Amino acid sequence: MDKKYMAEPYRIKMVESIRQTTKEERIKLLKDAGYNPFSLRSEDVYIDLLTDSGTGAMSQEQWAALMRGDEAYAGSRSFYRLEKVVKAITGYKYFIPAHQGRGAEQIVLPQLVTKKGMYFISNMHFDTTRAHVELAGARAIDCVVDECFNTQEYHPFKGNFDLLRLEQIIQEKGKDNIAGIIMTITNNSAGGQPVSMENLHATKAIADKYGLTVIIDGARYAENAFFVKQREAAYANKSIRAIAKEVFDMADVFLMSAKKDGLANMGGIIAIKEDEALFQLCRTYIVPMEGFPTYGGMSGRDMDALAVGLEEALEEDYLLHRLDQVRYLGDRLRDAGVPIQYPTGGHAVFVDCKVFAPHIPFDQFPAQAVVNEVYLEAGVRPVEIGSFLLGRDPDTNENIESPLELMRLTIPRRTYTYNHLDVVADAVIAVYKRRHDLKGVEFEYEPPVLRHFTARLKPVK
Ligand code: F0G
Repeated sequence: MDKKYMAEPYRIKMVESIRQTTKEERIKLLKDAGYNPFSLRSEDVYIDLLTDSGTGAMSQEQWAALMRGDEAYAGSRSFYRLEKVVKAITGYKYFIPAHQGRGAEQIVLPQLVTKKGMYFISNMHFDTTRAHVELAGARAIDCVVDECFNTQEYHPFKGNFDLLRLEQIIQEKGKDNIAGIIMTITNNSAGGQPVSMENLHATKAIADKYGLTVIIDGARYAENAFFVKQREAAYANKSIRAIAKEVFDMADVFLMSAKKDGLANMGGIIAIKEDEALFQLCRTYIVPMEGFPTYGGMSGRDMDALAVGLEEALEEDYLLHRLDQVRYLGDRLRDAGVPIQYPTGGHAVFVDCKVFAPHIPFDQFPAQAVVNEVYLEAGVRPVEIGSFLLGRDPDTNENIESPLELMRLTIPRRTYTYNHLDVVADAVIAVYKRRHDLKGVEFEYEPPVLRHFTARLKPVK
């Protein structure tokens, strides 16, 4: 791919000041935060790459739409405007809003678990999806291609299902014990890696062979569609909308955290292709959990902002620039020898810290050690996706070793410029140069569940 990167397809109309701290200040701030950047205040962060979720900038059209927001409990105009957009993009018959992605998951997934001992199979479950699978009394099985774990080797679609294993798992567990197949597009947890259209069709064929429900976890479905256009020859001349529609045609249910490719700061989507019984169940359960089915936890103005954001996220200039920003940061790091998940995916650059700091054992959390150093270096806040996040085995209470120790540099949408990304690259490269001196971290306080959010750590002596 060429080394040119598309300039911003927008100009800046409103700004939010960000502040650089001194190294001395950051040493103290990080110590006070228990060496866990989740506990930093965002005002003490110069460039915040913790997440791309709800952190993007809205357009003037979205801000204008906020004013149109109709704050009715039942049957607001905002709801009907959003419903129209969701139905047009997906081609599905039914739509229910939710407050965010996990809200959609908690309503739909339990409806598909009809008995004890069932499984969901996904290329890779996102953490909250896995949590809701388990809360619904089922088990989550990941089934991604092996190439996903070889960060240094190029593969255009590292998010793909391992089709042979998928069929093996279905046969082994029995088709009546499979609650559904979840297509996570893009595959967040291993690098925002796309899934090819060819692989989705093959997965759908397997689902059909065994009569299984297909669910799309499509927080970043528009970015996935753009990768299909860029990397799959047969789709080079198709529109993003047509590519996305072809994907929706393959599934029965679409769950979306609208905080990503909805270009909204808050929101979630449940869309159901045609299963009226499932729709009625979800409409019933959403009332006590998220809210009345025409707002599901969202305000009218948020639904209007989302209706506009969903359309904007399908624009090709926007998507090209978006993926180019990620590629730019990845190229700068690779050119300096920093090991990353290659090629870069849709929303973040994932640095392979097993290769970066091989001298730090997994239970001293190498990626967390690198995250902390990057904050100390330049006030940039990445996030760890590795053994620190994974937690302990519930049976043995031992730390589980993650197959990958990643530092995610997550890029919010339409928020930072290439200059900001240079600051990030320079910081990571500076840390890479002194990688041999990095030390691991150990617990000072370890919460019993979801420990990475609130744990306190200290550097190993
Ligand atoms: N599915 C995927 C693939 C996600 O990446 C996320 C959130 C969710 C579901 C849940 O959505 O946050 O709106 O409830 N990912 C964020 C992240 C939190 O930082 O990657 P949510």
